[in-house]
Amino acid sequence: MTYSIIRRPILVLSSLMTALCFATAAQAQSLQVKQWAASCAACHGTDGYSEGGGLVSLAGQDKNELIKKMNEYKTGKREATIMHQLSKGYTDEQIEIISAYFAALPAVKPAAKTK
Ligand code: HEC
Repeated sequence: MTYSIIRRPILVLSSLMTALCFATAAQAQSLQVKQWAASCAACHGTDGYSEGGGLVSLAGQDKNELIKKMNEYKTGKREATIMHQLSKGYTDEQIEIISAYFAALPAVKPAAKTK
């Protein structure tokens, strides 16, 4: 009896702490991804929505397609003026995470929120 009264709060507390740790790690990761994606925004538009100028939107593209294109830039298989150099700055893991980020966005830019 005494045993279970003492044990339970500790269990609850420890699972709460585990949940908290996961939340923080996920938040840190999403912040990191946003920073990586922001470096693409300079040319491909905010959140990967192209503002024209001949540049393609990254938002809403298929994840595997994005990974494939980035790898083809890396190896020189795909023609480029600038993406050769840029793609080489990212590890396979970073490319996968960035690609997943853009793929998860809707292909059509959501309308700007009015108050
Ligand atoms: C300095 C401008 C610039 C930046 C920054 C940039 N890109 Fe590009 N991107 C281009 C240009 C220009 C092309 C067209 C190919 C070329 O000439 O290099 C392109 C093409 C692409 C394509 C192929 C598009 C398609 O569907 O045909 C992908 C994918 C891509 N970029 C991903 C990225 C990602 C991911 C980032 C950020 C990590 C990024 N780019 C950052 C300029 C840029």
